[in-house]
Amino acid sequence: MDQLNYWAIAERDIEIQNPITDRKLRLLDDYCDIRDGLSVLDIGCGKAWLMRQWADKHAIEGVGIDINPRFLEVARRKPPARGHLTFHNASAKGFPISPASYDIVLCLGASFAIGEVPQALEWMAAATKPGGSVVLGDMVLRHHPEVPKGDILPPDTVSMMGVVERHGAEVSATISASEADFERYVSHHRHATLTWARENPKHPDHAEVLSKSRRDWMYYQRTIRPLLGWTIFVGRKNG
Ligand SMILES: C[S@@+](CC[C@H](N)C(=O)[O-])C[C@H]1O[C@@H](n2cnc3c(N)ncnc32)[C@H](O)[C@@H]1O
Repeated sequence: MDQLNYWAIAERDIEIQNPITDRKLRLLDDYCDIRDGLSVLDIGCGKAWLMRQWADKHAIEGVGIDINPRFLEVARRKPPARGHLTFHNASAKGFPISPASYDIVLCLGASFAIGEVPQALEWMAAATKPGGSVVLGDMVLRHHPEVPKGDILPPDTVSMMGVVERHGAEVSATISASEADFERYVSHHRHATLTWARENPKHPDHAEVLSKSRRDWMYYQRTIRPLLGWTIFVGRKNG
């Protein structure tokens, strides 16, 4: 099964492709001091909801990189009212970025496109101008399991802040998904994949879509809901 196709099905009904709500994402307007003239790089931008909101309100220059052409189709559909956005259908790793060239570098739910979180932060910090913002959203550990879990679990928020700070940025704000926010995000995936399977019973990927959908759904119920969360870290690069 084509994984890009799976995600196009699972996220066909949503434009924010992470567990944070639109209301909470709007906090980033202040935390990143968004204004005319800023340059923004969005790694794994998907449908680029956040950058499109910013470019509707401000004359920003934004660049989005994503491997899924179906998401970029949505991102490009309507030119923003004030800013200018360019999208590249490419993999983030190896994409040529000049050092210290963006005021804001975003990566929401796509650090794996570069590597482990420390590697992604190093890459992001290098692309950010001194005094600019490094914004990473990722899974965090909220509760340590009482007995060792088989799954590889992410670091908690304190360790994540340490990682951001070791890469030359001071964390100035965090925004976290609530349990209900995360449940809504994952339920969208489950609902969309089951609906798609009912509508496409003869599709060659039918069985695989259903089995991945069930695996992800049970991972959410067994591991994410009791132990994990999702947090955006806003770091200001020193200098
Ligand atoms: C969880 S989604 C987040 C999308 C968007 N940042 C948001 O928060 O709405 C992860 C995104 O990373 C993209 N992605 C996965 N691997 C990638 C890679 N190697 N290079 C660039 N983008 C990648 C996916 O296509 C997807 O759009």
